[in-house]
Amino acid sequence: MTQVSSLTLNDGNSIPPIGLGVFQIPDERTADVVGTAVEAGYRLIDTAAVYGNELGVGKGLADSGVAREEISVVTKVWNDDQGYDETLRAFETSAGLLGLEYVDLYLIHWPRPRLDRYVATWRALEKLKADGRVGSIGVSNFGREEITRLLDECDVPPAVNQIELHPGLPRTELREFHAQHGIATQAWSPLGRGQGFLEHPAITEIARDHGRTPAQVVLRWHSQLGVVPLPKSVSPTRLRGNLDIFGFQLSGAEMDRLTEIGTDFRVGPDPALFFDVS
Ligand SMILES: NC(=O)c1ccc[n+]([C@@H]2O[C@H](COP(=O)([O-])OP(=O)(O)OC[C@H]3O[C@@H](n4cnc5c(N)ncnc54)[C@H](OP(=O)(O)O)[C@@H]3O)[C@@H](O)[C@H]2O)c1
Repeated sequence: MTQVSSLTLNDGNSIPPIGLGVFQIPDERTADVVGTAVEAGYRLIDTAAVYGNELGVGKGLADSGVAREEISVVTKVWNDDQGYDETLRAFETSAGLLGLEYVDLYLIHWPRPRLDRYVATWRALEKLKADGRVGSIGVSNFGREEITRLLDECDVPPAVNQIELHPGLPRTELREFHAQHGIATQAWSPLGRGQGFLEHPAITEIARDHGRTPAQVVLRWHSQLGVVPLPKSVSPTRLRGNLDIFGFQLSGAEMDRLTEIGTDFRVGPDPALFFDVS
């Protein structure tokens, strides 16, 4: 089993430096995947209400036999549930499906700026944190403008912003902004969704030089940037391999080469264009 140390957040809580993402894993399969992941050493699981597999995550964790306090569970309030009361209700639904008294990290999934409810939604997250129902609160797919508004108008700064991030979309400016405000960066689609992207020559050549897989090289790149990647896999071999990234080091030149792969290779929606109201 791979041992991984933790990352301290701006509220004093800590989270593991890598986690399992469970987007697109069917609920009935999720408990098994989570069980395999926990056995391999994963201690951070990233789900969301909209993934429809919170029940499976909860079952997998309960069956794993690992103590609750050793695992960090992340879930997210979906777009349709934004607003103060709606979010408090949505949280209870998620916690019920997960079978958990508290969630370690609760995120606003997308900002939906034109709906203009993310500040009210954030207030609900602040209440959940004050009530001890969530350990840390954060956002996902937020840009500099929306984060600045939360910092200006609210009491608790986001601990995390979870964004699409990989060597095809390195998000350098936003990461620097996060660092200035003590906000941890979590990477979704950290492998650029795998197939195709991982065959880029810069990645395969560096992998060959280190005797590592392309995925391990990309995940190591995240780790050396101080980013928490959330790779998804249903394969036990890949799950184990994706966690085994702490025994080698990329040089500065290799890091730069990976960062320069691209700036606009998106595998998911651009938050400025999608999931908003007109
Ligand atoms: N906050 C958000 O808005 C948001 C949006 C999207 C995703 N997420 C989170 O981020 C997580 C990961 O994102 P993602 O699933 O989109 O993309 P990803 O983790 O970059 O890629 C997953 C794909 O790569 C494959 N893969 C995994 N390990 C591999 C390896 N070692 N070698 C080759 N291929 C490999 C997987 O296939 P197999 O399963 O067959 O191994 C799967 O097809 C999600 O599960 C979710 O938790 C969050």
